[in-house]
Amino acid sequence: MSLFFSSLFLLGAGATLVSGHVPFSTANLPLLSRASNNTANNTAGVARKCGPTTANITCVNRYGSYLPPSFSRDPDPAVAYTGTIVPDDPTWALVQEADFVLYDEVRGLEVLGSAPTISRGIIEVLNVIHEAPVFVPELNKLFVAQDGPPGFQQLLSLDLNFDPPTVSFIQTDPPLYQPTGGVYNPKDGFVYLAVQGFNESLPNGLKQHAGLARFDPKTLKAEWLINNYYGFNFAGPNDITIDSEGDIWFTDTDYAYVLGVSEADNQLQLATWRYRPSTGQVQVMDTSLDYPNGIGFSPDGKTLYVTDSGLESYNPVPTEGAGDFYDYPIYIQFNSTGPRNVFAWDVARQGGDLNQPIITGKRVIFQSLEGAPDGLKIAENGYLVIAGGLAPGVDITDAYSNQIARIQTSHPVENIQWTGSDYKTLWLVGISGFTKVEFNLTGPYME
Ligand SMILES: *[C@@H]1O[C@H](CO)[C@@H](O)[C@H](O)[C@H]1NC(C)=O
Ligand SMILES: *[C@@H]1O[C@H](CO)[C@@H](O)[C@H](O)[C@H]1NC(C)=O
Ligand SMILES: *[C@@H]1O[C@H](CO)[C@@H](O)[C@H](O)[C@H]1NC(C)=O
Ligand SMILES: *[C@@H]1O[C@H](CO)[C@@H](O)[C@H](O)[C@H]1NC(C)=O
Ligand SMILES: *[C@@H]1O[C@H](CO)[C@@H](O)[C@H](O)[C@H]1NC(C)=O
Ligand SMILES: *[C@@H]1O[C@H](CO)[C@@H](O)[C@H](O)[C@H]1NC(C)=O
Repeated sequence: MSLFFSSLFLLGAGATLVSGHVPFSTANLPLLSRASNNTANNTAGVARKCGPTTANITCVNRYGSYLPPSFSRDPDPAVAYTGTIVPDDPTWALVQEADFVLYDEVRGLEVLGSAPTISRGIIEVLNVIHEAPVFVPELNKLFVAQDGPPGFQQLLSLDLNFDPPTVSFIQTDPPLYQPTGGVYNPKDGFVYLAVQGFNESLPNGLKQHAGLARFDPKTLKAEWLINNYYGFNFAGPNDITIDSEGDIWFTDTDYAYVLGVSEADNQLQLATWRYRPSTGQVQVMDTSLDYPNGIGFSPDGKTLYVTDSGLESYNPVPTEGAGDFYDYPIYIQFNSTGPRNVFAWDVARQGGDLNQPIITGKRVIFQSLEGAPDGLKIAENGYLVIAGGLAPGVDITDAYSNQIARIQTSHPVENIQWTGSDYKTLWLVGISGFTKVEFNLTGPYME
């Protein structure tokens, strides 16, 4: 474990991190002009500086899929992409130092725009997981969950009306213990949370089973939506999204146990679920992933994406102290050959009034190039932004998972959220850090 974690920070990249109105169909057309060069020049060096000078930007030739044969990489999932060693190509250092790495130069430069910036270390945070970043545009506030220490029941609130933002801790009424996924619903003004904590000995006699809850960001009044499946406990709802019909989809994963914030053993298979607010019914949607984690829909609602972070699993032996990686003992182990994939499904509607979604055509579309994929969000143009989980960065791909660019941070990234009046600011939150990126990839409009 400690070996694992110490190698994580050998990585380089500095410290802070990513929205335009382009029709979905156009933005995703393959650029045929670039596809015509099938000539590899393996002596030219894999990387070069490119793009604007407001950040360190590196372009990688031909996805770096041929490296001088002396290269090596520790398969440990906590060794980032930048931990790859390429002794015979000095240009590789440009990848290791980069804030932004571009694989598709044309579309990558569009994503970055004319003056991309990265701000690292803006906010001092604990060495624990930060998750569930939710932007409430009316308040211009970003709410973020802090997973740990056990017993902690507050949320961070960043007031973005100030630069740097003012940070405070807030508590909903009743408190929601350890949320790990969140989404703002512009239709009703509530913040919906996937709440993983299970604790029957909270202060003031409060008991909580894991489930879904929502709160009004103006009054902080909270209410529970679900906390069981016909009497069975959920393991720990992890992430959450809302479909075009208003149904709430969520993943259930046992990281709550891993993080020491659940008193309950699993009672159900880990799965992807759907909750219908109008009736209260919860239905299973998929049981095929090891650790269903991040979840989102394409802008047209016709594709569902879910990440599988199955290479991180429960370890009966606590990671003692967890060294400088984590402030509290956690129960987690990694298996580099385990799943680190993003899956897609087609979403269709059936039933008399076409209000019963079914998902078909499951396909694996992406394998993380570091860590295991955690939170995933979909830009307004359909591009995927995939958090590296254990690893310090996010990958940006088109809707077909062609790698366009990546953002490199100095802390593991668990989840991401766009903010700003034009949704072109991206916050990357994770273990021990927050990073803010200003660029040209627009987040989904929330109206
Ligand atoms: C094709 O790629 C090679 C090697 O990277 C480069 O030297 C050459 O200029 C490219 N040709 C075209 C037409 O882009
Ligand atoms: C390949 O790249 C090297 C180094 O940049 C250059 O000297 C050489 O001319 C290139 N060869 C071709 C065929 O483009
Ligand atoms: C790029 O990286 C170098 C070396 O780390 C640093 O000195 C420089 O400030 C960076 N440039 C930008 C624009 O961030
Ligand atoms: C910013 O993104 C928009 C939409 O993709 C694009 O039309 C525009 O050219 C981009 N700006 C830059 C400077 O690349
Ligand atoms: C439950 O909450 C108490 C605080 O009241 C805390 O001390 C304890 O560690 C928590 N246990 C779990 C498993 O979350
Ligand atoms: C690691 O994962 C692979 C694939 O899921 C599995 O075959 C293997 O047994 C696992 N190894 C350990 C040590 O758990």
